[in-house]
Amino acid sequence: MERISKNLGRYKNYIFPMEFTSAEILDSLQSFEIRGSDVFLVTYPKSGTVWTQQIIISIHEFDGGLSKYPTNMEKMPWLENINNRDNYPLRPSPRLFACHLTPEFMPPGLEDKKPKIIYVMRNPKDVIVSTYHFSQIFSLFDTPESFEDLFEHFLKGELASSSWFDHIRKWKSMRDRYDILYLTYEDMIGDLKTAVTKICTFLGKNLSEADVEKVVEKSTFKNMKEDPKANYQFLPEILMKGVFMRKGQIGDWKNYFTVAQSERVDRLLQERLGDLSLKFIWE
Ligand code: A3P
Repeated sequence: MERISKNLGRYKNYIFPMEFTSAEILDSLQSFEIRGSDVFLVTYPKSGTVWTQQIIISIHEFDGGLSKYPTNMEKMPWLENINNRDNYPLRPSPRLFACHLTPEFMPPGLEDKKPKIIYVMRNPKDVIVSTYHFSQIFSLFDTPESFEDLFEHFLKGELASSSWFDHIRKWKSMRDRYDILYLTYEDMIGDLKTAVTKICTFLGKNLSEADVEKVVEKSTFKNMKEDPKANYQFLPEILMKGVFMRKGQIGDWKNYFTVAQSERVDRLLQERLGDLSLKFIWE
């Protein structure tokens, strides 16, 4: 493993906060036994992970099995987290995991055992702005010198989880091999109920109309902000010294980007992912 900054390390071309995961954990995942019943939520950081985590957890909470875990981080832990992972092999099915990994680090068996994978993406300009703010309150990320500094690191792929462009391409290319549902942050903002219904259908969860409504209610920005098990204010201040539930909107990038920066992202999007015909909602 090579240290590339104060907080970030790189291993096999993948960048991660060194206090969050490690080369040893990444290697150990190659012998992690997955189950067909596992559910993996995968994202590039700041794309709506914690939001989708709340939705998936709320869908499963009607079954009762998750009530013994106090917070969402324990109900649906991070697969690559260096801490508190001893219980992963022992957890009852269905196990719920979140992760920011690229496909090559995932445990073997995704193709044969076909666990459910939900991949959420967000328009990269808003990802940049969200990362900029989060980097200032989250001690496992590097604090950027300025917005411009963070912007350049993002374009070079020198942030946690490496290149956003590669992350999207790699996970999109798994479409036919894995049992995977693609969602966007913007679609969730546009119509949360439809997103929740899609997730239920994908997970084979036949919720009543009233229960779908309950999940939607629990997952609104306003309610999550006040929900102590979901809003990540349970992290110790030494890890996070600010509000996780920041703005929760589409288009905040317009308050930060210069025209030139916006055009650079547009150009790179075209060059790097143009063949994928992605349609992002920008405002
Ligand atoms: P902003 O910083 O733009 O507000 P992640 O969980 O992947 O780290 O993503 C964090 C982003 O998702 C933050 O974006 C956060 O506010 C937003 N978010 C979290 N819960 C949300 C919700 N219920 N509705 C809308 N956005 C939400």
